[in-house]
Amino acid sequence: MLGNFTYCNPTRVHFGEKALEALSGELAGYGGKVLLAYGGGSIKKSGLYQQVVDILNRCGKEVFELPGVMPNPTVEKLYEGCRIAREHDVDLILAVGGGSVCDYAKALSVSAWCAQDPWEKYYLRMEDVDNRIIPVGCVLTMVGTGSEMNGGSVITNHRQKRKIGHVFGSNVMPKFTILNPTYTFTVPMKQMVAGIYDAFNHICEQYFSGTDDNTTDYIAEGLMKSLIVSSRAALRNPEDYEARSNIMWAATWALNTLLAMGKSTDWEVHMIGQSIGAYTDATHGMTLSAVSLAYYRFIMEYGLPKFARFAVNVWGVDPRGKDDRALAQAGLEAMEAWMKELGVAMNIRDLGVTEDMLEGIADGTFLLSGGYRELTRADVIQILKASM
Ligand code: NZQ
Ligand code: ZN
Repeated sequence: MLGNFTYCNPTRVHFGEKALEALSGELAGYGGKVLLAYGGGSIKKSGLYQQVVDILNRCGKEVFELPGVMPNPTVEKLYEGCRIAREHDVDLILAVGGGSVCDYAKALSVSAWCAQDPWEKYYLRMEDVDNRIIPVGCVLTMVGTGSEMNGGSVITNHRQKRKIGHVFGSNVMPKFTILNPTYTFTVPMKQMVAGIYDAFNHICEQYFSGTDDNTTDYIAEGLMKSLIVSSRAALRNPEDYEARSNIMWAATWALNTLLAMGKSTDWEVHMIGQSIGAYTDATHGMTLSAVSLAYYRFIMEYGLPKFARFAVNVWGVDPRGKDDRALAQAGLEAMEAWMKELGVAMNIRDLGVTEDMLEGIADGTFLLSGGYRELTRADVIQILKASM
């Protein structure tokens, strides 16, 4: 049964080839000091950096730069950003980049004026925000995380071997987001497919939970089908605008809070994947793909009707003559074949995981209760071993 909820997503989205034209209008809503956060240089190569800086200058903004936000942003980088944001008392953080830069900007927005250690307060203790929040705007260049329209923010602490996400509330979600699918044309193939699988798995995490017949499940199935069709077109031609725009929009809706409304959700693949990320710094989507099949084959028995429905409604498996178990297996086989087409990581050894890491990875995995089976630590070890 669809549970009770209040739904509001406050992020204003500007979508399409001309979306950047909306930036100056958005900037008008904030004070004069803008912190421009970006990654390792892809936006300079593509020319987007200069376009954004020109708009900021035309709008009379004083710009403070914060380059070098790495994939899987670290707590040390967060502390660096806090010093800069506080020193200049910035009015807006403009994130230009992928999910890492958007996540980082949100972490910074709640951390800059936090009187305590933000890693401990927001990530280890998961406390609510009770200090000043600097507003965030995003210009997205890499698709997958949904960070452009949600409150999620994942930070890695390599010293403690922990990678933890905090899902902040609507007051931390980006105020606006610029989504231009052509920006994603230059994303390397490995990142493109990792992002597609990340988005697909966000849908799975919210789909494989509950026993009801929920409107959300039908939306989820539609989004998954769109991703499958568009991913194949994008593999053939990465500059297929229709495919890249569908992937971008589907990925945004995969994790912009809508799918989770009124229903339970799983998220255990992400919990295992994040712990793998803390040990290997591997690309996020690949940490998910590498454990997904072992995980879903493990929990399939506890949610057979849903896995059977997944096979028929998402993968078009013919249900005639098959019981739920046979259908569920056929659905996961179809998913496996698609993942191989994409070329995503199919085992954790390829990500640099070695046997001696497995205990630590299991220790760093949060065990959640929303899925078809609440895992034990021993289950996690079993799934990790099956993923090697
Ligand atoms: O740093 P630059 O030079 O920009 O290069 C990046 C980076 O190396 C490159 N890239 C991005 N756009 C490009 C491009 N290269 C060429 N052309 C472009 N247009 O791609 C690389 C990866 O970027 P990154 O931002 O790290 O990827 P992604 O968007 O997958 O973000 C991953 C982070 O998001 C977190 C992950 O854990 C990870 O830390 N997640 C955030 C979530 C959320 N906010 O809800 C949910 C997700 O499950 C995920 O956990
Ligand atoms: Zn993800």
